[in-house]
This record gives sequence, structure tokens and C-alpha cells, in this order.
Amino acid sequence: MDYETPQFYRVMQYAARSDRDVVDMVSGSPDWDPPAALRDGLRAYANAPADDYQYPPSVGLRPLREEIARRRGVPVEQVIVTNGAGEANHLAMTGGFEAFDGSEILLADPVYPYYAGRANFIGAETRYVAAQTDGQLDPSALREAASEETSVIVVNSPNNPTGAVYPESSIRDFVAIAEDYDALLVCDEVYDHFDYSGKFASALDVDSDQRIVTDAFSKTMAVTGLRVGYVIIEGDSLRERARTRHMLTNVTGSRPAQYAVAHALESTPPRYYTEVRKRVRDRIDRLTDSLDDIGAVYTDPDGGFYVMARFPEFGGGFDAVYELIDEAGVAGMPGAAFGESFEEWIRFAVCTDRVETAGARLEAYFE
Ligand SMILES: Cc1ncc(COP(=O)(O)O)c(C=O)c1O
Repeated sequence: MDYETPQFYRVMQYAARSDRDVVDMVSGSPDWDPPAALRDGLRAYANAPADDYQYPPSVGLRPLREEIARRRGVPVEQVIVTNGAGEANHLAMTGGFEAFDGSEILLADPVYPYYAGRANFIGAETRYVAAQTDGQLDPSALREAASEETSVIVVNSPNNPTGAVYPESSIRDFVAIAEDYDALLVCDEVYDHFDYSGKFASALDVDSDQRIVTDAFSKTMAVTGLRVGYVIIEGDSLRERARTRHMLTNVTGSRPAQYAVAHALESTPPRYYTEVRKRVRDRIDRLTDSLDDIGAVYTDPDGGFYVMARFPEFGGGFDAVYELIDEAGVAGMPGAAFGESFEEWIRFAVCTDRVETAGARLEAYFE
């Protein structure tokens, strides 16, 4: 699998070339509004004095780091603000790969393709652990795959693409496996505000200097374009390595973006997050109602934005996805783009208010 070329562009370009109307359920870019306070923050920033247009501290604006630390229950020193969860994952994975012995990075299959692409990019071998059909990652399967070659283990909860939310017991086991094999556990929690099960457990609840948590406001506040995320690192030397890499790569992050996020954190009522979560959950329900009518098998997501579905006698490769674009007018992502264990499946992102139309079109196609 070529994980280095983002496959979703391929599908989006194919859909864009279609002469029919296509409901875009390809990527996880929110179509809903950021909090009003975020826009207010950006507006207010426009008139800020010249000083506020200069470099912020490389690790991020102090009020933002303090607010993150308060919310996540960690000392402020452990927080580095990054350019999205993408950079946070990069700092965590590369730092772990350098600091811990072993040639392998352990990933779940299906996998968020950027983890796999990054592992290839930095010269790590990848080993995959197949998720269960419900998307859960069995800790004993992960333990079985771990070895002294394991340097980094990357997990993601709520999960893209399966929608699984790992229970606290699994998270504890994942950290224990990393510790037993002298490896680093990276837990990507970028969908933490999209937990429908009430069971989301953060890896921060397990104290260890062999686990790193990555996160961002990209999905939480519907600002994937703003590029504000963070990494929380307990261990001193891993943290120093991350600070240095972040500084040498970026110098620092965007000051206005960090200011606006900090302002939004301070002034956004909990209602914003609840309403957005409810809207996404409703969309998932509408899509799965149609999948039930079709007789498709699907992952009933406990979190995140995605539903993976397997249609009767239908594949999950690029050809299958192109067929649905051409004949049904619905674009999803091939399950095969996320690995092997769900290659018969198609992933649909519910980042569109046309989910009902998509469902009706799929029903008509599979009738
Ligand atoms: C699991 C996962 N991690 C990280 C990211 C990237 O997040 P960001 O836009 O904050 O870099 C995404 C984006 O879809 C994602 O699904």
C-alpha cells in the first residue's frame, strides 16, 4: 500500500470530474461553523498592535497552554502547541522512534494513512494489528505483535476510520505493552469531543513517561484550516526532543490562530460542543438507517465522524468507490486505502448535511 500519497485526493478528483451531482463523504473536514467566539477572536486580532504580529513562544502562547493544561489535568510544562494533530503525531512518532530501540512501529489495521506514511517516511518498518469487526483493538493481539523490535505503538481513539472508542482497560493495556517492550505509546485523541458512548478514556489517565497524547482543535472547533493542535509529553528528554524538532522545523506556530483558539476556549459555552456532537450523531444515525435498509454490515461508531460499511456482494477498493460515484452519486473512501483488514468496506465521512440524500441514493442503487 502506498501510504505516502494521500489517497483521498484521488477520490475527490474523480468525484469532481463526474458530470453528475455527487454527495461528498470523502474527507473529515467539518462543514459546520466554528464557535462564534473563535471568529470574534480572529476579528479582535486584526487590530492588535504590531508586537502581537511577531513570534509567539515556540512552545505556544502561554494562556493557550495553560488552558489546555487545565482542561487535560497536566502540568503546563508538558504541553507543546503544534500545527495541528498532524505535527503533534509527527513529533511523537519521530521522537519515539529515535529514543526507543527497535526498527518497528506498530499500527492498527485499518489505519489512519498518515501514520503509515510517516512510518515509511522515517524509515521505520510497520507491523499491523488487525482490528476486530467492531473496530476494537484487542490488547492481547497487540501484545502478540509486540517484540523487542517495537519502538513506537500508535493508537487512535475515537478512531478514524472505524469509530471505535477504546475502553479504559484497553488504554491501560496499551500503555503496559509499551512499557513491557521498552517502546512509546502514542495516543491520538483528535476526536475526543466526538464520543457518543460516554466511554472515552484518555491515555492521560494512565501515568507513564512512555505514553504521549496528541490532540488538536481542528475537529473540536471545526477549524482544520487554522492548524492548532498540541502534544502532551511527560518524559523530560522526549519533550526536549519534541520542542527542538518543533522549533527547528516551524520556528513556532501561528500567533493569531492560537489567540483565537484560546479566546474560543475561554468564551464558548459547553452547548456548542454538545450541539455539534448531536448533529454529527444524528447524521450517523440517518446514514446507518439506510445501511440497515440495504442490509449492509457497518461499524456502528461510538465516536468520530466516520461510518465504515460493507455492502452485499460489493467491494471496498477504488473501483467500487468509483462505481458508487458514477452510479449512485455518493463518494466515500475505499476501505482498502486504510489497510487490509477492512478492504471490502467503504468509509463514509458524515461531514455533509446531505447524508439523507446519500442514504436514499445508496438505497436506490443497492435495491
Ligand atoms: C486520526 C487523525 N489524526 C490526525 C488528523 C489530523 O489532524 P490535524 O488536522 O489537526 O492535523 C486527522 C485528520 O483527519 C485524523 O483523522
